[in-house]
Amino acid sequence: MPTILKAIAADITTLAIDAIVNAANGSLQGGGGVDGAIHRAAGPDLLAECLTLGGCATGDARLTRGYRLPARYVIHTVGPVWHGGTAGEPDLLAACYRRSLAVAAAAGVRSLAFPSISTGIYGYPIAAAAAIAVDTVRVALPRHPGIREVVFCCYSPADLAVYAALLA
Ligand code: APR
Repeated sequence: MPTILKAIAADITTLAIDAIVNAANGSLQGGGGVDGAIHRAAGPDLLAECLTLGGCATGDARLTRGYRLPARYVIHTVGPVWHGGTAGEPDLLAACYRRSLAVAAAAGVRSLAFPSISTGIYGYPIAAAAAIAVDTVRVALPRHPGIREVVFCCYSPADLAVYAALLA
């Protein structure tokens, strides 16, 4: 039974799914964009748990509970800031997806949703980032047979069109 890969346009904080991935910063103390939305929806206990984790390196991922979110878990990952593409950004972005899947699998997550990591405040061009996201997930999934569904949760119709073309 192949793992379901799909793209939707939605506010990731509304998804009743095992885990949602947060595009965080290294402090894990919240921020703007999807990070801000997730912390607002989860409530203050999320920040309290994040503060016990001691931060997160770029390309790594850390697990917390979801608290008031409909999702059971939040997987916090820190994407690279875009500096033109020759400062290791592609490998670091791929690592975010690989590590998030590994953390999810270790927690017994069966369904998870990704936002478009690094494509907002961190400035990563959506087309390049989405290609890395889809390719990295496709290559990594066979190592995690317990993961049955991966959702690319876009925040605009334009982003959805990019992912839909890659998944077609
Ligand atoms: N649901 C789904 N996607 C969302 C939501 C939401 N509620 N809000 C924003 N997004 C999308 C953005 O449109 C973008 O496509 O998430 C993607 C990632 O954008 P950012 O949230 O800006 O994240 P990123 O570019 O990785 O920058 C991370 O921003 O919020 C701070 O603390 C965070 O410093 C870190 C930086």
